[in-house]
Amino acid sequence: MKIKEVRAIDNKRHESYLEILVNSSIDAFIATDMKGIITLFSKGAEDIFGYKAENVVGTPISDYYLKGKNEAKKIMKRLYEKGGLKNYETEMIVENGKRKDRTVTMNLSVSLLKDSSGELIGTLGIGKDFTEFKRIERQLQQSEKLATVGELAAGLAHEVGTPLNVILGTAEYLMMELEEDNPKAEDLKIIISQTENITKLVRQLLRFSRYNQPEFKPTDINALINDVLKLTDHQIPKKKIKEIKVVTDFQQDLPMVTGDDNQLTQVFINIFVNAVHAMPCGGTLSISTRLVKPSFSASSHDRFAEISISDTGIGVHPQNIQRIFDPFFTTKEVDKGTGLGLTVSHRIIEDHGGTIDVESNVDEGTRFIVRLPIHAREDTNVK
Ligand SMILES: Nc1ncnc2c1ncn2[C@@H]1O[C@H](COP(=O)(O)OP(=O)(O)O)[C@@H](O)[C@H]1O
Ligand SMILES: [Mg+2]
Repeated sequence: MKIKEVRAIDNKRHESYLEILVNSSIDAFIATDMKGIITLFSKGAEDIFGYKAENVVGTPISDYYLKGKNEAKKIMKRLYEKGGLKNYETEMIVENGKRKDRTVTMNLSVSLLKDSSGELIGTLGIGKDFTEFKRIERQLQQSEKLATVGELAAGLAHEVGTPLNVILGTAEYLMMELEEDNPKAEDLKIIISQTENITKLVRQLLRFSRYNQPEFKPTDINALINDVLKLTDHQIPKKKIKEIKVVTDFQQDLPMVTGDDNQLTQVFINIFVNAVHAMPCGGTLSISTRLVKPSFSASSHDRFAEISISDTGIGVHPQNIQRIFDPFFTTKEVDKGTGLGLTVSHRIIEDHGGTIDVESNVDEGTRFIVRLPIHAREDTNVK
């Protein structure tokens, strides 16, 4: 009797110790029965997903896969075939408001649960939130791509420059030879103006691919954005039918960032002008700044000034969203866009140690989020 009692207590202790272990992990521990109904949802899972365990236990796991039941079936099939699943990446649905697109990229390792008699009783999945990791990975791929394209472009621009000058020179010479009223003069004018267009593009490309060392100094982002707004003011339509309202919300005590004024100005001009182009029938351009301190790190080096620029324009089609930072990707007419604006902006922000992200919904609008690090040294408040 006595021994049994001690064992019971021991078991209980053991149980709560396991519980403590499971709930101390920042990873998500999610167990299901053989029908895929959730039987355990750890503290880490609550943190990642934003749901409370009591609301999730008893519901099917397939509800939380972006791909739904198909994904659950696929995972079960692999589990049966291989006995386990390691580092499987899948998109999962989190609580409304937790993230804007309501999904996180989970890296899952799943195993089958057996009771002491060897009978299958369910599954245990351990999930890590890979969303941030994926974002950084994508950014890295993007920069590698840009570096290669940049080198290629610089070489090409150089090669093309000389023949272009010869064409332009020859056409101008012919132009001088012709009488004013010669009808051929019009044709020559076309050759000259089109060649000049190419020269302009090539020059822009060279400027982009040549490495310009940025000149860093403490920069007041709020003031810089106000200046950019003044610069772009004439581009913003104010007529009733296609009026664009500009709404700003600046955090007043935003610390200085270390940046190159000229380059950052260029970035925000690019983003603002794109937003204006995206709202041909008017809309709202909202710009806000705020200080962001990641919760997982106390270091002041990890603080960011976050600048959000959103428009209520046409949006970017999901199939294009990965491409908008690519060199020469444009959906605009030939003389309206070169497709280099965001490429250059991406590169500038990267040189500043920052990041630039985009979220968009077709027909609803687009939001660009620029994050610039605040360096401890320049950590003085803006007056
Ligand atoms: N705010 C926005 N709303 C909708 N589409 C956008 C927005 N900003 C950029 N884009 C898309 O990204 C493309 C690339 O932009 P960018 O690099 O600035 O080149 P460009 O403006 O010369 O086309 C644009 O052609 C457009 O399709
Ligand atoms: Mg542009």
